[in-house]
Amino acid sequence: MDVWSSLRFNCGQEISNRFVIAPLTTDASNEDGTAADGELEFIRRRSASGFGATISSAAYIADDGRSWQGIGAAHEGHLPSLRQLAEAMRSAGGLAILQIYDGGRIARPDLIGEQAMRAPSAVASLRPGAKTPRAMTTDEVEALVESFRQAASLARKAGFDGVEVHGANHYAVHQFFSPRANRRDDKWGGTLAKRMNFPLAVAQAVRDALGPKLIAGFRVTPFEAESDGYKLGDSKQLCGELAKLNLDYISVSLDDYRKSKPVGETRVYNGPVVEIDTPSESPVTAFARIIAGRSAVLASGGIKTRMDAEGAMKLGADLVAIGRAVVVDPEWLAKVRSESEASILAGLPKDEREIAGALSIPPRMVDYLLSRPGWIPRL
Ligand SMILES: Cc1cc2nc3c(=O)[nH]c(=O)nc-3n(C[C@H](O)[C@H](O)[C@H](O)COP(=O)(O)O)c2cc1C
Repeated sequence: MDVWSSLRFNCGQEISNRFVIAPLTTDASNEDGTAADGELEFIRRRSASGFGATISSAAYIADDGRSWQGIGAAHEGHLPSLRQLAEAMRSAGGLAILQIYDGGRIARPDLIGEQAMRAPSAVASLRPGAKTPRAMTTDEVEALVESFRQAASLARKAGFDGVEVHGANHYAVHQFFSPRANRRDDKWGGTLAKRMNFPLAVAQAVRDALGPKLIAGFRVTPFEAESDGYKLGDSKQLCGELAKLNLDYISVSLDDYRKSKPVGETRVYNGPVVEIDTPSESPVTAFARIIAGRSAVLASGGIKTRMDAEGAMKLGADLVAIGRAVVVDPEWLAKVRSESEASILAGLPKDEREIAGALSIPPRMVDYLLSRPGWIPRL
């Protein structure tokens, strides 16, 4: 399949090629959730190389669900900033998609106050130093669905071409689906079918708020590594239900798209990680088979070259998202397009002072990138 070919989404919008900038939190927004100049420049420069679409860093939908100092889509006051962001993201004519999230039990206590922490159930995450949240009431769960709906309406007003629900990477939507995090016994938890209710309600609310002509996407983590976590079989069922909602794409979130078994998020988590020996099928292939053309499939994780992108597409992806490669080299796509991949920067410069200026990365984001050893390659 040709990576430079266009694709028409269900909603009628066309993406001009198969490359998408993955959602990349900067941790460098202003304290009020407006986008800082540095992060607008970060995304403007990267979008300018001709990506078919850019997905924003995850925007919080509720003040008490913030997991870092990022952009907000929580109230009308965020509209002017969201407009600026959408403009920066489509600097070369690509589509601008706003990712929205809630942190749930991995919201940051220093940002929201320890007392404010709420989640599907009163179960702490396995992150080092994690605090135990309180369980949300049924009314609060319903209000959170409404906050996702309102954030999608704000995105529409701000001129975005679409919205992606961050249903992956252990944030609130993922938590509702996880038997480890969700021990509820009301309609939002318990059986697998009930644990799907929150992700599906959020997806439907966003689809409704956007109307039929904007892009609605949903990001899923295909499996959890811990023994009491959800398995690929579970997320396949969720995917099957999501595919009935006329979403434009479903995004499969992996650290490496080639991985077909959970390996544990040891870079973030302290917890007991189970090494599962039996390789299961590729989540990208599994999702593509279930979706069966009803939505596009977006794959991500470890895509650094055109061949990697083609590899993901051979597994069943229609689109590929690029994260760390475009952090490290803002001109990554231009180099792929001109077949000068040998000149792609393979890591951040050794000298930290060079990183911010030369690569248009806000200084706070540089600290964030360097805070997890081994996360981002260094030269
Ligand atoms: C600095 C940074 C920030 C990220 N922020 C987000 C985010 O806001 N939302 C999200 O869904 N994923 C986020 N991710 C995950 C990426 O979107 C992507 O899935 C991951 O980095 C794997 O792809 P890659 O190998 O191309 O980097 C982030 C990754 C990095 C490196």
